[in-house]
Order: sequence, then C-alpha cells, then structure tokens
Amino acid sequence: MNAQELRTKYLEFFKSKGHTVIPSASLVPENDPSVLFTTAGMHPLVPYLLGEKHPGGNKLVNVQKCIRTGDIDEVGDTTHHTFFEMLGNWSLGEYFKEDAIKMSWEFLTSPDWLDLDKNRIAVSVFEGDADSPFDQEAYDVWKSLGMSEKKIARLPKKNNWWGMDKGPCGPDTEIFYWVGNPNEIPESFNDDNDFWVEIWNNVFMQYDKQSDGTLKVLEQKNVDTGMGMERILAAVNGLDDNYKTELFWPIIKKIEELSKLEYGNKSDEEYIKDDKQCWVDVRKQFRIIADHIKAATFIIADGVVPSNTGQGYVLRRLIRRAVRYGKLIGIEKDFATSVAEIVVQEYSNHYPELAKNRALIFAELKNEEEKFRKTLDNGLKKLEKYLSNPEGNFWNKVKDEVLKQADIYFNDDIANLLFDLYQTNGFPIELAMEVVFEEFEKRDVILNKDKITQKFNKLFEQHQDLSRTASAGMFKGGLQDSGQESAKLHSATHLLLAALRNVLGDHVYQKGSNITPERLRLDFSHSEKMTPEQLVKVQELVNAEIQADLEIVREEMSLEDAKKIGAMGVFEAKYGEKVSVYSISDNGRIASKEICGGPHASRTGQLGHFRIQKEEASSAGVRRIKAVLE
Ligand code: SER
Repeated sequence: MNAQELRTKYLEFFKSKGHTVIPSASLVPENDPSVLFTTAGMHPLVPYLLGEKHPGGNKLVNVQKCIRTGDIDEVGDTTHHTFFEMLGNWSLGEYFKEDAIKMSWEFLTSPDWLDLDKNRIAVSVFEGDADSPFDQEAYDVWKSLGMSEKKIARLPKKNNWWGMDKGPCGPDTEIFYWVGNPNEIPESFNDDNDFWVEIWNNVFMQYDKQSDGTLKVLEQKNVDTGMGMERILAAVNGLDDNYKTELFWPIIKKIEELSKLEYGNKSDEEYIKDDKQCWVDVRKQFRIIADHIKAATFIIADGVVPSNTGQGYVLRRLIRRAVRYGKLIGIEKDFATSVAEIVVQEYSNHYPELAKNRALIFAELKNEEEKFRKTLDNGLKKLEKYLSNPEGNFWNKVKDEVLKQADIYFNDDIANLLFDLYQTNGFPIELAMEVVFEEFEKRDVILNKDKITQKFNKLFEQHQDLSRTASAGMFKGGLQDSGQESAKLHSATHLLLAALRNVLGDHVYQKGSNITPERLRLDFSHSEKMTPEQLVKVQELVNAEIQADLEIVREEMSLEDAKKIGAMGVFEAKYGEKVSVYSISDNGRIASKEICGGPHASRTGQLGHFRIQKEEASSAGVRRIKAVLE
C-alpha cells in the first residue's frame, strides 16, 4: 500500500462513520504561544475540544503534519521522527470510549481496511491514580473485542495520559504493533520491548487542566486520536523500519548517492549480530539527515526562516545538525537542497505548499548550509588541535587519571573549549556540546555533562558581566564588534514585539526572527497591513523604552517557571529543562519578558535610535518588519 492510498483509506473509513474531513493546519500554530509547532492533530482543535462549535460538526478526521522536537535524541532509530504525519479522528462530545476503540480495531484489523494480524496487536490502558481512576471501561471494551488479558497492560500516567500543559486532557489507550519476527510474537505485552511499537493513541478527553494543575471535569467528553502515518505504513507493508517506506526510501537513496555509502536491507539487529555495529552507526546518520532535511523543508514551506529565536532557531538547529551528520558520512559538498528536492518531489501532491515555496526552501537551505559549513570546518579544526596538543599533555592526563576521575581534571578545560567554540567560532552551543562529547566518547572518556554545562553557564554569565562593564565605558571604544551589534538588535526585537502587542493586540506572537549585524527582521501573527499611524506608534513606543535606559535582566529558570511568570516565546524545551528569561521592566511595569537564547545588551539605553524600514506581508496571516538601530 502506498502512502496516498493509506491516507485515502483512513479518511474514507471515518467518512463512512459520519466524520467530516478537515484540512491539515500549518506547522506554525496560529495564536498559540505555548508551543512553537503543531505537535498533534488535536492542537489546532483545542477551542473545539473545550466546547466551541466546529463548522465541520462534531465528528472530524484529518491528516495533520506535525513537528516534535522533544524526542530529537531518539531520532536515528527506525521509528522516531521530527516531522511526521498524524492520522487523527475526533469526537466533540459525540461518541466516547466504546465506539472509539471499536472503530480503531475495525480499521486496523478488518480485511476491508488494513487487515493487520490481530496477534501482532497489544494495548495499554490507564491504571489509575489519585486524580483519575483505572480505566475499567476501556479495559472492558478491549476484552470484549477478544484481546487477551496479557496483552492489555495497565500503565501509569507517564504512559497512558495525554494533554498539553493546560487545557483538554485525559486517560488514553495506546495500540502497539509487533514489528519483530512474526514467528516470535510474545504472548504478553511488555512496554520495555522495542519491537512493540506504538501505532495509535486514543485519548479520552474528560478533563480541562487548569493553570494551577488541577483537573476540572469537562462537560463535553471528547475523543482525540492520533496514528503515526510512517509507522502504520511500515506495518501495513511488513517493513521493519520506517525509513524503508516510500516516505523515506527515495531520500535514503539520494543520501546513498551523495555519500557513496549503502544503507542496506537488513535490520539493525542483523547487522549487530554480524558484528557490524559500524553499519548501524552509519544508518543512524542517514536517518538523522533524512529526518532533519525533511522537517526543515516543511518548516520553511510554512513561512519560517533560520534565526536565533523561536521556530527559526529550531529550524537552524535541524539544518546544522543535518550538515554535520552529512560530514560524518563523508559528504563534504553542499547537499541539503538536493535532499530537499526529493522531499518536494515526493510530498507535493499531498502538500502543494512545498512545490509552491520551492524557491524559498532552496534559497534558505543553501544559505544556511554554506554559512554553517565554514563555521563547522573552523570549529572542528580547533577541536582537533586541542585534542592533539602535546603541550596540554592531554592524552597523557587522560591515560593516567581521566578514566577514573574525568570529573575533576577536565570539566574546566572542556567548558573553556566549548565557550571558545561558541564565542569565537559561532558554534551553536548544543551542537558544540554534541560534537565535543562525541569526540571524547569515541576515545572512551565519559565526561560529566552536568558539571561542564554548569561551568559553561558561569563563563557565559561572566562574559555578560564583561559586556556590561564594557558598555559602562571602562573599555572605551574597545569591544564594539558585530556580536554586540546583534545583541542590541536582539534586545530591540523584544521591545518591538512588546510594542506590537501593545498597539495591535494580544493576538500578536512572534512567528520568526532573523538578525544580521545590520538589521533585525521580525515576523509576527497579524493579518492586515499596518497603517502608517500604527507604525509610528510602535516606533515611538520602542524609542521611549530605549530612552528610559532600562536594565535588561537575564534569569535562568525551568521552562515551567518561565511559563508561570508569563514569559513569551516558549520553546519546546524538555520538561525540567533550564531556559533563560530576559526581562525589561520599569519600576514594576513589565516592558518585555521573553524566553530567549540571547545574547542581549545589558541596558536599553545602549540601543541608540530604533527605526522601522519596512512592513510587508510574509505569509498568510503573518506580517514582517525590518528595522535598524541608528
Ligand atoms: N494527541 C494524542 C497524541 O498526540 C492523540 O492524537 O498522541
């Protein structure tokens, strides 16, 4: 079965059950600051899950393009992706657990539809906790369908609960498919066995999670389901690897041609059995490149360009990671556009925005790759020099002590090296860490990442202090460089966003940003052309904040705390991850508060005079402002 047949079958099945087909929303969520990208089909439907009437009625179905970066470390295996398509059906207060489960089962196993082997299917249901009881109803429905008790796992919230930070949520039942040897299907389901792959999640949205974390019972009970297109296509075609489906295979073939290496037809396990771990490592690199370039292609098609904040930053990281992995498998020339070409070719039938934005996609990829390749080459040379420097006596120290005490000897050295790569060579910090840590691991030295990160953060702060002192005039005329210009433009971008929200309203969110040493560019959600009066007002507001010479304060906190204090521009950071929040305030009045990677000026007074050069359309519902500091 090919991908288009699968999409059509899914939509047809739910149409036959009274659902209305709705289109895929953009990857960039409209008016939702809590996530950078559309991460699930339910995401654009939140208002309707909370009770608003949907024009398509109470039963909906679609194929939604999604981006998830939370699992980025898992990308490289056979089943995780940054970009994926989600097949989803919804009941807005209509059917609930019984019908939802029965329809899933019918679609998966009926000979009229996917006809998957029932023995290869297992499920999990919510085991219950203080907030919500064991999901007896879901359990009973599965039993009534003939599912053996051993294949109905009862799992905790970590596994069987779905929702975002706020809003509609509830227990779910997940459906797993055995992708291992068909002759070795276990009798019971085991969550730790990677051959059981989750293919479909049925969420029973019976609560509305409040800002304080409490659950309010929803009057309208909803069903939200999501089935991973890439995984189900592999299952239907009996493939052990999503990258062998037509959604990836032509891309993999292109990477083979570029790298002159082979991906191979066996499974990873077979290569490992044959003592060919190196083969598995190369495949992982193939997969990361294919995944990241595909994701980048779709993100650019939805109007995002590489930058240092928000969606643009995620995009930048994806492209840069792909370039680096390309280098690891021997691709030294620019290649991102030739891989993107295949993505555009393969997906444009279903997603015409790719063909439409082809020129933009190629231009942005090419530009970012060229710039980064230079950075990468210089940084790697520096790293190599450091590692082979006999003066530093590095490897002697390693031999004697480090294997036992890497912590004590090398944390400072490595943090300094990372900071140097970041500061002097412009290496994105996550990538610098990834490269450095891998180089050490290759040499069997395991570093203490937490301690090194702490030390790095200290260096970062010291550096901020240094710029502050410099700007206070102690190093007169000395340190003004392009880095400082871009720091000022970063700070100006925060003031601009705040001013736009002030003048145009709270529907304005950042949709992308790009800063060169000369100018800033901000894309933001707003559907009409701004009037000259509005532009003058925005410019005046920003200049007033600059004249007030307000302090720009950086604080580090968890993502949760940042959200709690209402910081804008929330990254899709992992739970518990630390983020930097930059605040500008004036005697208690908050002028701006944003999560941002920085760097920033230390006072608004340093910014000079702010002038808007241009206001224009960027994409549907998104306007773009270019501005300078004079
Ligand atoms: N929202 C659920 C998920 O993403 C089901 O679609 O898994």
